[in-house]
Amino acid sequence: MIPPFRIEFTTAQKAAFLTAAAAILDSGRLTLGPHTTQLEQLFAATTGTRHAVAVSSGTTALEIALRALGLNDGDVLVPANTNYATAEAVIRAGARPVLYDAALTATADAIDAARTRATRAVILVHIGGHITPELDKITDYCDTHNLLVVEDAAHAHGSATADHPAGTIGAAAAFSTFATKAVTTGEGGLITTNDPTIADRARHYRDQGKDSTGRNTLFGSAWRMPELSAALGLVQLTTAPNPMERGHDLLRAYAQRISNPHVAVPFEPRHRYSGHKAIIQLANRAQREDLRAHLEAAGITPARGVYEHPLHHQPALALTGSYPLADRFADAHLCLPLWPGLAPDQQQHVINTVNAWTPRQE
Ligand SMILES: Cc1ncc(COP(=O)(O)O)c(C=O)c1O
Repeated sequence: MIPPFRIEFTTAQKAAFLTAAAAILDSGRLTLGPHTTQLEQLFAATTGTRHAVAVSSGTTALEIALRALGLNDGDVLVPANTNYATAEAVIRAGARPVLYDAALTATADAIDAARTRATRAVILVHIGGHITPELDKITDYCDTHNLLVVEDAAHAHGSATADHPAGTIGAAAAFSTFATKAVTTGEGGLITTNDPTIADRARHYRDQGKDSTGRNTLFGSAWRMPELSAALGLVQLTTAPNPMERGHDLLRAYAQRISNPHVAVPFEPRHRYSGHKAIIQLANRAQREDLRAHLEAAGITPARGVYEHPLHHQPALALTGSYPLADRFADAHLCLPLWPGLAPDQQQHVINTVNAWTPRQE
């Protein structure tokens, strides 16, 4: 069987982590220590931003980014097709999520259609590591209408357009380093920004809003990243192979070698991809289920979709409305197996199986 995903560390990465873990235990400094600082510096350098702030999760990274930007009231536009966490963070920060319709990536028209008088910001979610091809149009639109852009870059480590790396596009960005992400700390996340004031506020928020005198001046929480987690992230950025490069190469191989006319593989050759998800698009739900059965019969388990339940179908959020692009996308996409250690013969088997498929229902 080819699984949808695997979490793997090389022998060198495990050895580097164990050495760092011993040093942390010997130092007695288990949080907000030198490994967190090093991870932040390296992540900022890798991403191309001036600052990175390590925190407890991708969800809290987004909430802190919103709070640090002062987005604690008004409306924040959120794509209907995203993770629950995107809207959750907006609500917890104190603003109101207003959905815009979106399939895989955002369009300026959908953002314009959703904008309210109270809209203060737009969240762009780089789903599966895909940055919208309408990026320049959307950022121009946001400039014109005085809206902040905030990136939910949970999936987008190493993703970039020809001109803009993920994490450098908005006023701030939130990455996740959850267990399944290209760079993982088990649980965790990082905020990136070029603005030193935002970075400083994010550091205060993550440590219960304390200022340098120990007074709680911001309504923060215990959103710190433990040193052991930071050390795990650090070894992936310093010990080959680079997980972000491998993800891009695997996704490009899918895009170049899947030749079935019934299957679309979104891939813009001028962009770089984290390779967090290998998303393919079919004509409709019946074809998607037919291909899923065909893959499973060949010993291949597809990965979870992004997303199977758009936000207007999430009972906990109570965000209703009609979002046909999101619904159609949810129905008609599938994610092929992808993780940095996917072997060439395994990937070729997946490609051959997809290419050999003919839909039963046209
Ligand atoms: C788009 C998106 N945003 C935010 C998150 C939240 O990240 P975390 O699980 O680290 O809190 C996720 C989780 O995978 C996600 O997919």
